[in-house]
Amino acid sequence: MNPFRSVGARLSLALALVVAGALALVYLVVVPSLQQRLIDSKLSQLKAALPQVSEQVPQTPFDLWPDFLERASSTADARVVVYTILTPATPTTKASVHPIEDSHSATGSRDVDNDPIAQRAADTFAEASGTAERGETKYAEVAVPVSPIGRILLLSASLHDALANVDTVRTRLLEAGVLALLLAIGVGYSAAYLFARRIRRLEVAAERIASGSFDEPVRDPSPDELGQLARAFERMRLRLSQLERARREFIGNASHELRTPLFSLRGFIELLTDEELDETTRREFLETMREQVDRLARLAEDLLDLTRLDAGRLHIERRRVDLGELAEDVASEFRAVAQATEHPLELLPSEAQALGDEERVLRIGRALLENAIKHTPPGTRVRVRSAETAFRTASLIVEDEGPGIPMEHARHVFDRFYRVDGAHASGSGLGLAIAHELAEAMGGTLELISTPERTTFTLRLPAPSEELAVEPTAAVSA
Ligand SMILES: Nc1ncnc2c1ncn2[C@@H]1O[C@H](COP(=O)(O)OP(=O)(O)OP(=O)(O)O)[C@@H](O)[C@H]1O
Ligand SMILES: [Mg+2]
Repeated sequence: MNPFRSVGARLSLALALVVAGALALVYLVVVPSLQQRLIDSKLSQLKAALPQVSEQVPQTPFDLWPDFLERASSTADARVVVYTILTPATPTTKASVHPIEDSHSATGSRDVDNDPIAQRAADTFAEASGTAERGETKYAEVAVPVSPIGRILLLSASLHDALANVDTVRTRLLEAGVLALLLAIGVGYSAAYLFARRIRRLEVAAERIASGSFDEPVRDPSPDELGQLARAFERMRLRLSQLERARREFIGNASHELRTPLFSLRGFIELLTDEELDETTRREFLETMREQVDRLARLAEDLLDLTRLDAGRLHIERRRVDLGELAEDVASEFRAVAQATEHPLELLPSEAQALGDEERVLRIGRALLENAIKHTPPGTRVRVRSAETAFRTASLIVEDEGPGIPMEHARHVFDRFYRVDGAHASGSGLGLAIAHELAEAMGGTLELISTPERTTFTLRLPAPSEELAVEPTAAVSA
């Protein structure tokens, strides 16, 4: 396995590279420049002392030399050497310099014989400066031709102490660098380890949710990006568990609703095989069976519509519709049933234009009117009407003077499979849920106001705009 696949290893490597880079920069650029500055400063110091010293060079009496050398050496804080230029024996050989006076003569002047800086000053007959190495030590040196002619004055100061300091700085830097490098690797690895652990926890949570287990919450209280990701995961978990619960409930309710009429049908089929059954009873049984089959067919249709609504695949037209006309159509469809169940059915003539899908509006109207007849006692007055309502809306209203829907149930009647206990006739509890979702798909609402004397369902749809009044054929898919 590639050892740099882990975040820890990569982060440690990145930090180590940064530290190593910074260290190399200090080592290769800063330290040499510090060294150069020290040398330059020593050279400037010598150059500053040069005019004063060169002026004092004794011109003849030799007894003045020791005094001069001592003074000059302390003024320049350097070794003072005076050279004589030896003219070459042949024109092809170069002139050489030889020390004749030296402030450090006690140790001998052989080491400064033919000194490169003094030599350069002799060659160019001008001031020369630079560094020279003798043995293990480096020196900053300035040389200048002085009178009497043929003499070179050299000031030479040891750089030993200054360069030793630079070496100490270099060693300390190296030690600190190695320490920082180890620290960077350690810190990088631990930080990455902590992060990787939190990421791993999120990964495990995601796997758990993906496998369909929604019980354990996803927790990471930190306010950083990983914490935010964990909170997004938690919201997803809650939503998915909600959807899963709704899905299970839906399947459970749907199978229950399908099972009831199927059981009843099976019972009737068994009874019908009895050969002693008289004709009237047989016909009654067949009639009940037809009702059960109708109920099953309607249930299947409702379930299919709900699935389509959930998938957003139900095609919804948005055209100009006359709610007055639709109210009339629905009322006439139910007139016979209302008469049979002794419900006085009133249609209040009115005109109201809305934007919607004619078929869906009819479906909602049927569900509302069927409820008003089915869930109220005989003799209850039922009214259907349309109206132009506030905020550029138009409404289809179905109201009855039945016992109403108690407050605690009214909140749930639009839920799928919800039925109020003790309902007079049993349905599957899908009529209002579908009506509500269809109303929303058309950009409208379905509202309920219920009191003990009156129950009013209002389908509110947007009124057509001015342009649509001219061109009434716009269609959209919901
Ligand atoms: N006008 C009404 N008066 C009293 N109760 C009502 C009225 N309309 C609806 N309900 C109550 O609301 C419940 C839900 O109605 P919904 O139309 O969704 O289902 P359903 O009529 O029982 O069955 P389905 O319409 O699917 O055949 C009903 O079971 C009934 O108890
Ligand atoms: Mg109903």
